[in-house]
Amino acid sequence: MYADVITLFPEMVDFPLSQSITGRARKEKYLKLSFVNPRDFTEDRHRTVDDRPYGGGTGMLMKAEPVFRALEKVRKKTSYVILLTPKGQTFNQETALKLAKKKRLVFICGHYEGIDERITPLADMQLSIGDYVLTGGEPAAVVVIDAVTRLIPGVLKKEDATVNETFTDGLMEAPQYTRPAVWRGQSVPDALLSGNHKKIEEWRRNMSEELTSKAAKVSAEKKADREPEKKKKTVLKHRRKAV
Ligand code: ADE
Repeated sequence: MYADVITLFPEMVDFPLSQSITGRARKEKYLKLSFVNPRDFTEDRHRTVDDRPYGGGTGMLMKAEPVFRALEKVRKKTSYVILLTPKGQTFNQETALKLAKKKRLVFICGHYEGIDERITPLADMQLSIGDYVLTGGEPAAVVVIDAVTRLIPGVLKKEDATVNETFTDGLMEAPQYTRPAVWRGQSVPDALLSGNHKKIEEWRRNMSEELTSKAAKVSAEKKADREPEKKKKTVLKHRRKAV
């Protein structure tokens, strides 16, 4: 997979994705990352990439033209363009699976208070990694690229490593243990030590279902706890400040 990242701060994405599994995936060419900096597409003496928002307000916005030119430089017919923004749809495993099937992704990382709105129609998808505001889209791009890379066939050595895991089938993965069998007074469940595959599968399935329904209950309770009026206000405040 090719991923082009449009960013003013390439190191923020390059370095974390040079480590561990994503680093190996890059060395083995499963993932080919390249960076393009909107600053290289400015024409003024100061190489200006940001400006004040029309209508006033705090902070600076990224100008449309340098981002547009950077995108023009890397965009191919097959590119799928993702704009990282807290206003986007929330990233999840289903989206990771969808993106892992694409040949070419382009990530646009906003910085400062965001990008001129006229850039948004150029994106195929707007993605948020959660309901909080980061200093820029770069950490979000790292999260998305990491989650997608491990789904590219061949990246994880064990064929089935991504099959039974949390979220893939809508269930949470059962707890896992490694040696020793007793650690600081806590034992590994008997079923896992039994060597009986049927018993192990059954135990894992039961635990998965139990964990998933507990988690669903907790999030339903949290949702019910939030008073609707208060929630509306929080969302509006968040949106106004959103990068
Ligand atoms: N940019 C700033 N905050 C973000 C978030 N939560 N998700 C994606 N991009 C962002």
